[in-house]
Amino acid sequence: MGDGSDQDVQLEARLVEQDSFEPPEEFVEQANVSDPGIYEEFEENWPDAWEQAADLLDWESEWDDVLVEEDAPFYEWFVGGELNAAYNCVDRHVENGRKNQAAIRWEGELGEERIYTYQDLYREVNEFAAALRDLGVEEDDVVTMHMPMIPELPIAMLACARIGAPHSVVFAGFSADALATRMNSADSEYLVTCDGYYRRGDALNHIEKANEGLAGVEHEVEDVVVVDRLGDEQPYELSDNQHDYDELVAAQDGERVEPVPRDAEDMLFLMYTSGTTGEPKGAKHTTGGYLSYVAWTAQSVLDIKPEDTYWCSADIGWITGHSYIVYGPLALGTTTMMYEGTPDYPDKDRLWEIIERNAVDIFYTAPTAIRAFMKWGEEYPASRDLSSLRLLGTVGEPINPRAWKWYYKHIGDESCPVVDTWWQTETGGMMVTTLPGINEMKPGSAGPALPGIDAKVIHPDKEEVDPGQAGHLTVQKPWPGMLRTVYGNDERFVSEYWEEYSDPDNDEWIYFPEDGAKIDEDDFITVLGRIDDVLNVSGHRLGTMEIESAVVGVEGVAEAAVVGGDHEVKGEAVYVYAITEGDTDGDGELRERVVEGVEDAIGPIARPEEIVFTPELPKTRSGKIMRRLLEEVANGEELGDTSTLRNPGIVDDIQQKVQSD
Ligand code: WTA
Repeated sequence: MGDGSDQDVQLEARLVEQDSFEPPEEFVEQANVSDPGIYEEFEENWPDAWEQAADLLDWESEWDDVLVEEDAPFYEWFVGGELNAAYNCVDRHVENGRKNQAAIRWEGELGEERIYTYQDLYREVNEFAAALRDLGVEEDDVVTMHMPMIPELPIAMLACARIGAPHSVVFAGFSADALATRMNSADSEYLVTCDGYYRRGDALNHIEKANEGLAGVEHEVEDVVVVDRLGDEQPYELSDNQHDYDELVAAQDGERVEPVPRDAEDMLFLMYTSGTTGEPKGAKHTTGGYLSYVAWTAQSVLDIKPEDTYWCSADIGWITGHSYIVYGPLALGTTTMMYEGTPDYPDKDRLWEIIERNAVDIFYTAPTAIRAFMKWGEEYPASRDLSSLRLLGTVGEPINPRAWKWYYKHIGDESCPVVDTWWQTETGGMMVTTLPGINEMKPGSAGPALPGIDAKVIHPDKEEVDPGQAGHLTVQKPWPGMLRTVYGNDERFVSEYWEEYSDPDNDEWIYFPEDGAKIDEDDFITVLGRIDDVLNVSGHRLGTMEIESAVVGVEGVAEAAVVGGDHEVKGEAVYVYAITEGDTDGDGELRERVVEGVEDAIGPIARPEEIVFTPELPKTRSGKIMRRLLEEVANGEELGDTSTLRNPGIVDDIQQKVQSD
C-alpha cells in the first residue's frame, strides 16, 4: 500500500512534493474554533476548562465537581450533575424553535429517502420509548440492537437513552455467534432487530441470523422487536415474544415519556470491541462525560453548525457512528445523514451523488474508502458538483499521504481542510487531530493532541521519544469521553489499559491505547498502528485471537495462526496459516469450511484473504508461534532472523506456498 505504488493515481508534482497545507482563509474565518489560545487555556485551567464541553449541553442539575480522581483510574466527570441524552439530542432543539429542521436525512440503497425533522424524531423517540417501557424495559436494563443503517436504529438508541436503559449495538454484519456472545456478556434481555436490508440491490435476510443468535443466548430473552425493513419482499414469522416495531409504535400513538434524569456517571451505552484475548470487551460509556466530549469534538474538530448537512459514512454499529452520526451531531442540533448501502451501488459515484443532491457541508469517512475511491478513478467525483463541501475528515486507520492528498484535491478541491482524527472505541471521541480553524495540516500525520488531551509518545522507560523516533502512544491525563470500565470486569479494565505504564504506588496513571506512534518537532503525532494482536481491516477492528479460535474450531484444523498482511485498499487483510488434523487434506473443501467458520464466528468482514495449509507453524524453542515471520511472509517482505526457531525450514515452505497462490 506504500506511497508511489499507486502509479495510476494522478497527482501533480506540486501536490506530491508539498508536505504541509495551511487551512483555507475562508474556512478559518467561519470556524467554530479559530483562536490558538485554546491550547493554553486548557493547559492552564485543567480540568475546569472541560466545563466548556459540558456547557454545550442542557443539564437537569449542575455538577458539583468537574473531575473526581480519588478512585483512579476509575475517574468520574461532572460528578453530581444530572441530564438526559435524548433530551439533549432531540427535545431541546424542538423547544428552541427548530422543530422543522431536518434531524436525520436517511437514504436507502434503492434510492428511497426519509427525512425526520426534530419534531418527527421527538414523536418517534417518545413512542418507541413508551413501547419499550410497556414491554417492561426498566432503567439500567441493557437493550441490544442488531441492526443495519436504518432510521429505527438511532431512534431506538435515543428511546433507550430517554428511559435510562443503556444500549448495546452490535454491528449488523456481525454473526449470530457474535450477537449471542455480546447479549450473554451484557446479560441483555431485550433485542431490537430487523427482517433484512439491501446490499448491492439484493434483499439480505437478517432475521434468520438474529434468531440463530437468540438461540445461543444463555438466559431468558424477554422481548424482541423486529423492524420490517423489506415489506413483502421477504416474509417471516414472529414468535411469541417477538413484536413488530410498527405495530408497537402505532399502539403508542401520541404517547410522551418524560426523559429520565440520569446521573452524569450513569451508563449511556456499551460498545463491544476487540482486544488481545479472544473475548470482546464491553467499553462502558457514560451520559455526562461522553455526551459532553462528543458534542465538543463535533463542534471544534468537525466544525458542525446547526444549519449544516453533515455526513459521516461510517456504520452506527461501530463507535464512529455512535459518536459522530448520532450523539455528537444531534446534540449540536444539526442535520445528520445516514446511508444504508454500499458506495458503489448502483455506480461508483453514489456517494458523490448523495453529496451533490443534499448539498452536504461536511464529510467524514475512512482511509480504506478513500483508497477504494482512488482505485475507481477521479472521474466519479469529477462528474458531480461537490462545491457544497467545507470540511473533510478521516478516521479509523492511518492515512498515507498520497490518499490524503487525493482526498484533499479530488473531493475537497483544495479548499476544504482535512482532519485526520485518531481515537478509539475506548476514548469515546477524537483525541489527536488538527483543529481545522487553527493548525496547518501535514498529510499522514494526525496532528497534535486536542486541547486538554495529554498525549505523549514514550519509550518503555516512560521517557518521551525524540522527534522522529517511534514509541508508544500514551495519554497521561483523564478526559471526559473515556471509557469508565470494561463492563463487568474492572480488573480487565486496569490490566488492559493502565498496567503497562502506570505507577499506582505513586498514584500515577497512564492510559495505553496499544498504538505505536512518532512525534515531530511541532508535536504532530503520526500513529503507526496497533502493537497488540488487533487487526484493522477496512477500518474495522478485529482480534486475531477471535479469528484464530474460529479457525481452530473448524473440523480438520489442528492449529492455526492469524496475522495481518498489508492490503492496498483494506489497509490490512486477514492471513490464516493452519495445520491440518491427522491426514486431512488442505483441499478446497476445508478451505471453504475455514471461511465459513470465520464468517459464522465473527462475520464476513473477517473473511480471510489467504489461507495457507502447512504441516507446521514456525515456533521458537519454547513453543511460541513467531507471528512476526508470518507477517513478513504475508507482506512478501524479506524474512528477518529465523535462528531462534526450532523449525527454521518451515518458513521457506510457507513462503513458497503463499507466492505460488
Ligand atoms: C486505529 C475507531 C491512525 C488505531 C474510531 C486505534 C487510527 C484503532 C486512526 C481504534 C487514525 C483510528 N490514524 N490510526 N486517524 N483512527 N486508528 O476502536 O489503531 O474501531 O487504536 O475506533 O484504530 O479502532 P476503533
